[in-house]
Amino acid sequence: MNRENIKKNDLMEKIVSLAKRRGFIFPGSEIYGGLSGTWDYGPAGSILKKNIKDLWWKDMVELRDDIVGIDAAIMMNPKAWEASGHTVSFTEPLVECKICHERFRSDKPEEILSHEKTHKGKKPEWTEPRQFNTLVKAYLGVIEGEKSEIFLRGEITNGVSVNFKNVLNSTRVKIPFGIAQIGKAFRNEITPGNFTFRSREFEQMEVQFYIKPDEIEGKEWFEYWKKNRMDWYISLGIKKENLRFRDHDLNERAHYARLATDIEYKSPFGWQEFMGIHHRGDWDLLRHQQFSGEDMSYSDPQTGEKYLPWDIETSAGIDRSLLFLMIDAYHEEKNPAKNGASRVVLKLNPKLAPYKVAVFPLLSNKPELVKLAKSVYDDLRLHFMTAWDDRGNIGKRYYSQDELGTPFCVTVDFESLEDKKVTVRNRDTMKQERISIKNLEEYFREKLNV
Ligand code: GAP
Repeated sequence: MNRENIKKNDLMEKIVSLAKRRGFIFPGSEIYGGLSGTWDYGPAGSILKKNIKDLWWKDMVELRDDIVGIDAAIMMNPKAWEASGHTVSFTEPLVECKICHERFRSDKPEEILSHEKTHKGKKPEWTEPRQFNTLVKAYLGVIEGEKSEIFLRGEITNGVSVNFKNVLNSTRVKIPFGIAQIGKAFRNEITPGNFTFRSREFEQMEVQFYIKPDEIEGKEWFEYWKKNRMDWYISLGIKKENLRFRDHDLNERAHYARLATDIEYKSPFGWQEFMGIHHRGDWDLLRHQQFSGEDMSYSDPQTGEKYLPWDIETSAGIDRSLLFLMIDAYHEEKNPAKNGASRVVLKLNPKLAPYKVAVFPLLSNKPELVKLAKSVYDDLRLHFMTAWDDRGNIGKRYYSQDELGTPFCVTVDFESLEDKKVTVRNRDTMKQERISIKNLEEYFREKLNV
């Protein structure tokens, strides 16, 4: 049964429970009762997250001649946030329920409605919407009273914009070119929720792609990046029918955007954005030029023409991408080999799967099996992220690896001691075949395409 056949509320509960049970995602600071809007990635989740980031970086930076990467500081001079408009415009419309004083976003009618239902028939009144700034403040300095107020970055973009000239002067990039970055961002969300979907601390991967200021080129590059990003997510294995574009109306665009389109996923809680493509024009470079007094323009080396480039941005949320990749990969299946008992399997693209292979000795109390299995494990782990499991019976180990999304399991049994072959079991087909130990690396290289 794939996700379409599981009741929507059940599916989210199942994902949250699987995420905790198998070490993908834990509630932040859980032993202290948690901290709303924060999540910790466990042993499997942190590898899955790293795999998403590594694949993105490879696609955007390593395999392209026109994009370079940077890694800017999270803490910036507060003037940078004035210049970029965030201190004034990085806001959400906040309303308060006059009955219980809980606060909500007035632009999320479904959340308002579902809150009103909790008051069972009593019609709540709401305060007038007021603009609530979501930048998170922090204080730097060692002397009490002399500490300076700064902001944790609300989006990772500013670190790129302020380094535009540094990148130009230290590399050989020429327009059109992009600057890529991956990193944490922080927002004081009014209503964090839907698991990691709306968090207060999250990670983004972005490219600011700089082009000549030209209406036609701007539209062409905007369309190019829309298609490029949609194709990338499909190549990771998200089902096409669960993805769509949604253009922003003029009144919902961020303060910097001339054009904006989201890529949305058909989640158990409705179609939801997990990445945005924004035509930022020269908003950031112009504002930083005005506020810093530094010349942010680009000189065309051929024509000598001088201009402020336009920026076509692609901005993806890593936590939302990971959540939607997990939901899309989630399957419950009957196992014909086990009298129809059901199994849960994450059919993740092998490139994303936290572990590519798991190795087991058939019995953990037979030293000769454990020894051979360990040597297979030690060889494979040099080439692929490999898990070891010698607990419980083989069925339980398969069950646990299916939930982690491990594409292949290798079992060393008594026959292996004689014929130097092992049983390799495929996650998706559950078919098993005997493979020579000496051919395992080549076998997995071909099957995993890594
Ligand atoms: N630099 C442009 C920018 O930040 P955005 O649409 O505000 O644009 C981009 O954010 C992406 O960051 C979103 O599509 C989403 O995936 C992720 N994101 C934004 N707020 C988030 C939150 N509170 N929790 C998790 N992810 C979030």
